[in-house]
Amino acid sequence: MDRHNTAGLSSAGRTVDGQATDGQATEGQVTEGQVTEGQVTEGRGVDEQDVIARGTDRRGVGRRGVLAGMVATPFVAAPLAVALAGAAPAQAATTAAGASGSRRRGGTLVIGHRGASGYRPEHTLASYELAARLGADFVEPDLVPTKDGVLVCRHEPEIGGTTNVADHPEFAGRKKTVLLDGVSTTGWFTEDFTLAELKKLRAKERLAAVRQRNTLYDGLFEIPAFTEVLELRARLSRELGREIGVYPETKHPTYFQKSHLPLEQRLLDVLNRYGLNRADAPVFVQSFETTNLAQLRTLGLRTRSVQLLSAAGAPFDLVTAGDKRTYADLVTPAGLRAIAAYASAIGPDKLQVIPTGSDGALGKPTSLVTDAHAAGLLVHPYTFRAENSFLPKDYQRGSAPNDYGRALDEQVTYLKAGIDGLFTDQADVGLLARAIATGGSIVATQPTPHSATV
Ligand code: G3P
Ligand code: CA
Repeated sequence: MDRHNTAGLSSAGRTVDGQATDGQATEGQVTEGQVTEGQVTEGRGVDEQDVIARGTDRRGVGRRGVLAGMVATPFVAAPLAVALAGAAPAQAATTAAGASGSRRRGGTLVIGHRGASGYRPEHTLASYELAARLGADFVEPDLVPTKDGVLVCRHEPEIGGTTNVADHPEFAGRKKTVLLDGVSTTGWFTEDFTLAELKKLRAKERLAAVRQRNTLYDGLFEIPAFTEVLELRARLSRELGREIGVYPETKHPTYFQKSHLPLEQRLLDVLNRYGLNRADAPVFVQSFETTNLAQLRTLGLRTRSVQLLSAAGAPFDLVTAGDKRTYADLVTPAGLRAIAAYASAIGPDKLQVIPTGSDGALGKPTSLVTDAHAAGLLVHPYTFRAENSFLPKDYQRGSAPNDYGRALDEQVTYLKAGIDGLFTDQADVGLLARAIATGGSIVATQPTPHSATV
């Protein structure tokens, strides 16, 4: 369950993660292929390097390409001020490739949400690599810190739902209950583990009941450090001939500030170390909180940043400060203008762009895209998923919740509403939807993820 909605509030379309059941961790399956790709070889602190280099089961990613023939298009960076304010979708498409940082390859960004989490356990190098090979423009790591202050990729600090930590008796004593953004949460938390200890764990599928196929990979992949993702993205950018962007999210900033493990300077340090703290870098830094995004600017962040929004609740930093503003206040024209002072984009729940009605069917677009563009902000909604359980009623196919529905049609509808990018668990679906929406070629560019070799 997502924790940025205060007091346990959860927005429609964002609660399904809470359905997660324990995956069938199959630790120890790896018997060969100690693949070492993706390991950090430069630009990293020695301690962290040592820990990562010592890691075994380095088969998270493979060298063999899965997409021979993918079209290579250099990343086109541009000032975020050129946000195509008020542009109609057709206009937006025709201004692609150079008008704005978001305008490339047909007009919108495809962001690999937690990698290619529709096909691999989320936030693993295998997931990020597959997303890039499927054509994603950006891969999205969520960031939390370890006890020794290393940024690692997990959706939240609690790791019982996405790793086999429960199978490690030596860590049994670390199970605890904390108040995470106002929600009582029981499990194991990254801030109680060093990077070396986390490297003993293996990832498992969060949504095992929805994505049973992904449990095939349970027990194979490590928890990656953020630096490993940056190394991976650099290597894949070279190999694929196009810049793979990175879209990191600072998770629970207030919680980690109170835990004496603030994320902000650590993130800046890593971006600086990798030469990515630039206005034209292929980087968006995102947060559901507001204060830390502004603080990052003060600390020296020069990349683009993204104010994440939710259909309900309020940013936890504001709640903590006694500020009564909610996400609903942030999406007013005045609220959006305020965001534009420190961010270049918003990341709303997709239902804030086009809501569903009481019958569960997709309704009419709100004014959010127009209002955001008027404020100079790009709009990158989350999260587009192909399974029926994540789709509006009228875009579902059949009644089986885990079957794929009309996800392409759903995304095309949103793209035609003028969004500038989308977070998706299935990057290939996002690419195809973008091609359809913009009248681009759909031939031979769509990979078959299940035949991908990683
Ligand atoms: O970050 C945007 C998108 O990822 C939604 O948030 O992390 O709860 O999935 P998250
Ligand atoms: Ca995220």
